[in-house]
Amino acid sequence: MTSNETLIQLEYIDKVKKILDLKRQELKRPLKACVTTFGCQMNAKDSEKLCGILKECGFELIEDEQSSDLVLMNTCTIRDNANQKVYGHLGVLHHMKKKNKDLKIALCGCMMQESSVIEKLKESYSFVDLIFGTHNIFKFAELLYRMYTEDGMIVDIWESTPEIVEDLPTVRKYSFKSGVNIMFGCNNFCTYCIVPYVRGRERSRDPEEILCEIRNLADHGVIEVMLLEQNVNSYGKNLDTPLSFAGLLRKVEEIDGIRRIRFMTSHPKDLSDELIDVCAHSDKICRHLHLPVQTGANKLLKAMNRVYTREYYLELVDRKRTAIPDISLTTDLIMGFPGETDEDVEDTIDLIRRVEYDNAYTFEYSKRTGTPAASFEDQLSPENMKRHFDAVLSVVQETARARCALHTGETAEALIETVSDHDEGLVTGRLSNNLLVHLPGNESMIGQIIPVKLDVCKGFYFMGSRA
Ligand code: SAH
Ligand code: SF4
Ligand code: F3S
Repeated sequence: MTSNETLIQLEYIDKVKKILDLKRQELKRPLKACVTTFGCQMNAKDSEKLCGILKECGFELIEDEQSSDLVLMNTCTIRDNANQKVYGHLGVLHHMKKKNKDLKIALCGCMMQESSVIEKLKESYSFVDLIFGTHNIFKFAELLYRMYTEDGMIVDIWESTPEIVEDLPTVRKYSFKSGVNIMFGCNNFCTYCIVPYVRGRERSRDPEEILCEIRNLADHGVIEVMLLEQNVNSYGKNLDTPLSFAGLLRKVEEIDGIRRIRFMTSHPKDLSDELIDVCAHSDKICRHLHLPVQTGANKLLKAMNRVYTREYYLELVDRKRTAIPDISLTTDLIMGFPGETDEDVEDTIDLIRRVEYDNAYTFEYSKRTGTPAASFEDQLSPENMKRHFDAVLSVVQETARARCALHTGETAEALIETVSDHDEGLVTGRLSNNLLVHLPGNESMIGQIIPVKLDVCKGFYFMGSRA
């Protein structure tokens, strides 16, 4: 349903459009904007919404910052190196702005929700024109209007919002697949993680709004949807009429035209038997589950507030694999959490070997100000951190290679996503189990699901041919 807030923002889009029309006439050329996105799929989805508004306002969207009139950086703060990248890049933008006074620089996203960041930006990066956070991206048109009509740096950061504003313009990076937010925020407060502080509490979208969006996507040629949020398994708990995530999946499955359904991320603590059952009996839900474990040591799982044990996790993996033998399992691991000993690393390695992950993202623990773990004793030295990280990474790669190789010679359906970056004569497809395959082809195949023979395993991906 179109809300009052949506109508207000649509009016602001019109106002900004008029301002930009005048500028365009003055400059006798189109106005261009470049949006750079850091972080996870939630941020990528937000960027599509921001791009939608920019486009409606009359900007041409480009990827080259150098020829842009507006540069927007949608930031991430999950680990410190994400923040450092943004500060580094601001240096480059400052240089550009010195040469082009009309260049507008805007920052948004998770990093902006940290008060220490805002202080630093105000003090040392006063050339930035607009700063907003994660809770008010729906106000982007209004903020653009302010940026073009007021002097000085505009800063608008909200602590939280109960609101979910629907029906604003959006653009999609791919014509055939799309992420769909089913909820926002996180209530889990894992002790290392900053997300609950920068994204706020869990709020589920109304199921009808979600289904309506997916039907509309299907009408426009989308065949794969990825249902998004930090912990999709807790979907629906705060709705007026509660609906489980499994219940929502059943409804999404019924939508004609949608051929593949993915979701991420699943927190192990909330993964229900009902969900396993829905996945097992579905032709559309992809054979891939991302199930972040973080560590294999019970002591650390407790200190991380993950609310499960390694035994529970291993039993869950068993249940999942029994119900869906061809499921591909991937995970996230944090190495170097405060207090991690060599024995804990052994526990993690043992768990990786037992589960035999198809892939895993391994991160060095990064201390995030304001999270409980930042003040834990026994923070690891950089040397130990790296030693633990390297030990785990090599095992992860070993099991992932072995799992990937098992598919050699099989024929599987691949959704062709892109022409390969490295070779124009190749296209890249994604299998239901999330493996990538490169095969001879051309642009006309993009968006099609085709059978592919997996000829040669190249470690973590395949070279294939049309079956
Ligand atoms: N909501 C998801 C994960 C979101 S963040 C979940 O709970 O599983 C993605 C990954 O970043 C996490 O799974 C974790 O492995 C990693 N991560 C989060 N905070 C981190 C930190 N402070 N240091 C290192 N890695 C971190
Ligand atoms: Fe962070 Fe934990 Fe929430 Fe994931 S579930 S976003 S790791 S607090
Ligand atoms: Fe980063 Fe925010 Fe996602 S901190 S990982 S962009 S939710």
